[in-house]
Amino acid sequence: MEPDEDLAICVSGLTKRYGDFTAVDGLDLNVRRREFVGLLGPNGAGKSTTLKAISGLLTPTSGTILINGIDSRDHKNAMTRVGCVIETPMPYPSYTPAEMLTYAGKMHGIPKDEIRVRARDVLEELRMWSWRDKKIGGFSKGMRQRVTIAASLIHNPEIVLLDEPTSGLDPRGMIEVRQILKGLKSSGLTLVISTHMLKEVSELCTSMTMMNHGREVVSGNVADLVHGMSGKGTVALDTRVAKDVPPGFLKDLATLPGVAGVESTGPRSFKTTFSGSDEQQSAIVDFIQSHGLMLLSMSESGKDLESLYMSLTDEEAGA
Ligand SMILES: Nc1ncnc2c1ncn2[C@@H]1O[C@H](COP(=O)(O)OP(=O)(O)OP(=O)(O)O)[C@@H](O)[C@H]1O
Ligand SMILES: [Mg+2]
Repeated sequence: MEPDEDLAICVSGLTKRYGDFTAVDGLDLNVRRREFVGLLGPNGAGKSTTLKAISGLLTPTSGTILINGIDSRDHKNAMTRVGCVIETPMPYPSYTPAEMLTYAGKMHGIPKDEIRVRARDVLEELRMWSWRDKKIGGFSKGMRQRVTIAASLIHNPEIVLLDEPTSGLDPRGMIEVRQILKGLKSSGLTLVISTHMLKEVSELCTSMTMMNHGREVVSGNVADLVHGMSGKGTVALDTRVAKDVPPGFLKDLATLPGVAGVESTGPRSFKTTFSGSDEQQSAIVDFIQSHGLMLLSMSESGKDLESLYMSLTDEEAGA
């Protein structure tokens, strides 16, 4: 079969076994050029194993992987235009970002002068230029992750694979790293990230493959998956009103058509699980107004993808 020109990565029937244990089980994954793809799944789903197989860090038990149409077994050629950060190696604390990038550039066999130019480009793009000569040892985790990502970009790759790029970062670090990744969209890069955070996928990715127990659970365009879910009607309407919710109101609300459940979230707020039509949703608004509660806001919380995730990955309660 001719390789599809539009595919940056084509994984077919990827299986990885460790003895009797199957970590990845017949996975197919197609990544189109310039797409941002999220590999989503709980702990042990097989995300890192998949990324390691794609980047040649481990040998698959079976299956084929084409990168830019080149078989990953031809490792050097397949990986020339790929950058990756998998199971984050700690950057050397006594190095500076400039030194790290020089080191990474040398590893890729880039001539010295070119490294200098490219390092400047990358450090500027990742808003780290002013940090170039400071020792990494004094950096926050988020900054360290940025240096590591910068190093993976030194050879101007077309494809970048990042294993849990925001894992272990505080909220600020997460936001910073996500901002950096969003910034890479305009450069036409193809990005594959693994994550167990739905928010990350919905914020960054155009498509996703959800995995569990080494297999694909669902995959497709992120917006379509969310839409498909809301088509099934599982939205949570978070509602705030200006008056105290009177006794019995929530019970009456629960009887309206399309309302699957009602939960109090405060004296002046409640959450309605709703699965009806637009007319029925509008009737909820009327119902609130007719009780003189003064509706302040009603937001469809982004629970759609989350409930899809919960229903598709059979995580044990509390795990
Ligand atoms: N070298 C190994 N030997 C034996 N089992 C392994 C090995 N590497 C991974 N596994 C097992 O394979 C399964 C998948 O692991 P993997 O690291 O790919 O999961 P993951 O989705 O990346 O999880 P996490 O979110 O925890 O990083 C796990 O059950 C893990 O214990
Ligand atoms: Mg992992």
